[in-house]
Amino acid sequence: MPSYTIALLDGDGIGPEIMAEAVKILRLAESRSDLQLELTHGAFGAGAWFSHGDAFPRETRDLCDRADAILKGPIGLDHEQTGKIPVDMRPERGALLPLRRRFDTFANFRPVRLAGGLTHFSPLKPEVIAGGIDIMMIRELVGGLYFGAKESGRNAAGKRYVKESLDYDEEQIGRIARVAFETARGRKKILHNIHKSNVLKSSVLWNEVLGEVGREFPEVEVRHILVDAAATYLCLNPRQFDVMVMENMFGDILSDQAGGILGSLGLMPSACLGPEKAYYEPSHGSAPDIAGKNVANPYSMIGSVAMLLEMSLGLKDEAGHVWKAMRSVFDRGYATPDLAGPGSDSQTISTRSFGDLVAEHYAAAPAAAD
Ligand code: NAD
Ligand code: IPM
Ligand code: MN
Repeated sequence: MPSYTIALLDGDGIGPEIMAEAVKILRLAESRSDLQLELTHGAFGAGAWFSHGDAFPRETRDLCDRADAILKGPIGLDHEQTGKIPVDMRPERGALLPLRRRFDTFANFRPVRLAGGLTHFSPLKPEVIAGGIDIMMIRELVGGLYFGAKESGRNAAGKRYVKESLDYDEEQIGRIARVAFETARGRKKILHNIHKSNVLKSSVLWNEVLGEVGREFPEVEVRHILVDAAATYLCLNPRQFDVMVMENMFGDILSDQAGGILGSLGLMPSACLGPEKAYYEPSHGSAPDIAGKNVANPYSMIGSVAMLLEMSLGLKDEAGHVWKAMRSVFDRGYATPDLAGPGSDSQTISTRSFGDLVAEHYAAAPAAAD
C-alpha cells in the first residue's frame, strides 16, 4: 500500500479552523483509496514566531523536506498585531516566501470557478456571467519584485528611500510560459498573456520569451492584454478568459480580484508547484476579522486538498468527487456567511457544518473500481 507524508501547516487566524475540515476530507480520501497518509502538523506563521521565535522553525522545515506534499493554511495577522513582530520576521517574509523559495514553487495555479447554477454568489450581473466562470490563473510565484534585491536607508540628500528590483531571467519566464501553454493546450487553446510592456522592460522580455516558447505550441492562440485592462475585463467580461498567465505581483492582485468576482475569497484554492515538490494553500489570507468564529468558508482549503489529491497523489477521480461534494452543498441551498450577500437566499451554515456536509456527500461517492 503506498504511503505518503503530508505536512499540515495550519497557519494563523482562520487557518486551524479550515484546516480541520480539510483533514476530514484527507482522511476520507485515505479510507476510500488504497493508500496510507501520514498527516503531521507543523508550526508555521505568526503563531510559530510567538511560540518558537521563528515563523518557519527548523523542525517545520525538516518536516516539509520529508513530506511528499504540503498543505498550508493562511498565515498573517491584522495590521496592529503584525507590528509586534520585527519586519523581516513577519510571517509573509519570514515563512511564506522562504517556503516558496525553498521548494522553488514557481507555478501557482489559482482556479477561478463558479458553476452556472451558482452565479447568484457573484456581485456581477447574471447576464455578464451567464453559464458560469471557469478561468485558470497561472501566477509566477518565485520571481519578480517579491524576490528581487531590496535596500533602504537615507540617500545623499538625507531623504529616506527604498529600492526594490523586479528581476526575471529567460529561464524563469520560459518555465512558467511552458506550464501555461501546456495548460492552455489541455483546455480551450487560448492563452491570455497579462503584461505591462508599455512601461516595464521586464514585461518586454517576458513577452519575447513567451513568444519563443509559444512556437512549440502552434495550436494555442495567444492574446496579449495589458494588466490594467485585464483588471477591467475581469469585471466587464470575465467569460472571455480561459487560461491567464502573469508575473508574480500581477498574479497576486488579479487573483484577489478574481475572488471578488466569484463573490468571496473563500472560493479560491490554489496549488504551488515546483520541480520536485508542491504545496497547496488557499489564495486568501488569515481573515483575522472572522477568526475563531466558526464562520470561515473552508471551500478554498478543501479545494486545495482536491488539487493535492490530483496533482501530488494522482487521485484525479477522488479529486473530482471532492469538487462535486462541495458543489452539492451549494446545490442544497447552504453556504457560509461570506456568500450570503444580496441576491443569495442560501441558508447560512458554519465552517464545521460545511465540512461535514462535504464529507457526507464525498463518502457516498462511488469508490474507484479495483
Ligand atoms: P484576507 O484574505 O485574510 O481577508 C480579506 C477578506 O476576505 C476579509 O473580509 C476576510 O474575512 C475574507 N475572507 C478571506 N478568506 C475567507 C474565507 N475562507 N471565508 C470567508 N471569508 C474570507 O486578507 P487581509 O485581511 O488583507 O490579510 C490578512 C492577513 O493574511 C495579512 O497578514 C496578510 O499578509 C495575510 N495573507 C496571507 C496569505 C497566505 O498565507 N497565502 C494570503 C493573503 C494574505
Ligand atoms: C498570496 C498572498 C501572499 C502573496 C502574501 C501573504 C505574501 O497575498 O498568496 O496571494 O502576496 O503572494
Ligand atoms: Mn494575495
